[in-house]
Amino acid sequence: MKYISLNNIRKRFNDGTGGQRTVLDGLCLDVEKGDHIAITGVSGTGKTTLLRILGTLTAPDEGTYLLDGINVDYSDERQLRQLRNGCIGFVFQDCPLLPWLTAWQNILLPAQAAGGHPSSDTVEWAEELVRLMDISHVREQMPQSLSGGERCRVGLCRALVMRPSLLLADEPTGQLDAEHAHEVAELLTMVNNRLGMTVVTVTHSDSLAQTARRVYRLENGQLTTMNYEL
Ligand SMILES: Nc1ncnc2c1ncn2[C@@H]1O[C@H](COP(=O)(O)OP(=O)(O)O)[C@@H](O)[C@H]1O
Ligand SMILES: [Mg+2]
Repeated sequence: MKYISLNNIRKRFNDGTGGQRTVLDGLCLDVEKGDHIAITGVSGTGKTTLLRILGTLTAPDEGTYLLDGINVDYSDERQLRQLRNGCIGFVFQDCPLLPWLTAWQNILLPAQAAGGHPSSDTVEWAEELVRLMDISHVREQMPQSLSGGERCRVGLCRALVMRPSLLLADEPTGQLDAEHAHEVAELLTMVNNRLGMTVVTVTHSDSLAQTARRVYRLENGQLTTMNYEL
């Protein structure tokens, strides 16, 4: 079953000198439910833009996005809120956290945003994520006292805490040493295999890309398939 279907997506930005730059140029992408894909490409090619369109955070100029059969309408704030709260988890590049909350409070934030007090089931899952990501010892610390790698692992726990059906991760291992990068790769594989989450990862890392089932390269505003590994 097709879970994501992007058709003929175009996105342009002002280039700062009065002109426009086309970043995504008729891009198409189909992803099956439960698939795990990686998107690679050099810096500035539009990987973050593509992920933000998938996360409903940026509207394309042209084209359609079907998510689980729903035609995403970027002008319908209510629909967008439901999608973001209910089915999408987003790991942002460089992992911004709210500086006035502890790591643990940051992780539970999506549960609070979705409706008050997190359930005991959600708290148990958050505790398991914290253990898997090896950040139990920094749980009560404030973000400014965490290393870049610890912040990213907190950001990943936060993205997963609501058990989204779609996880979008923008360079999730960009700031991690090899050992923790390996843990993140294992967690992405685990949530894909065990929980059936659909995972889209943007990465520069060949070793992380190879843990996905399919790898695409973004170039000249379009995606090409790098390999199939089913
Ligand atoms: N909000 C924006 N306004 C203007 N230009 C942007 C904006 N977001 C991205 N761009 C431009 O679009 C291009 C692709 O950016 P991005 O999607 O961040 O690429 P990547 O993640 O592959 O490095 C870059 O040239 C960037 O400057
Ligand atoms: Mg980027």
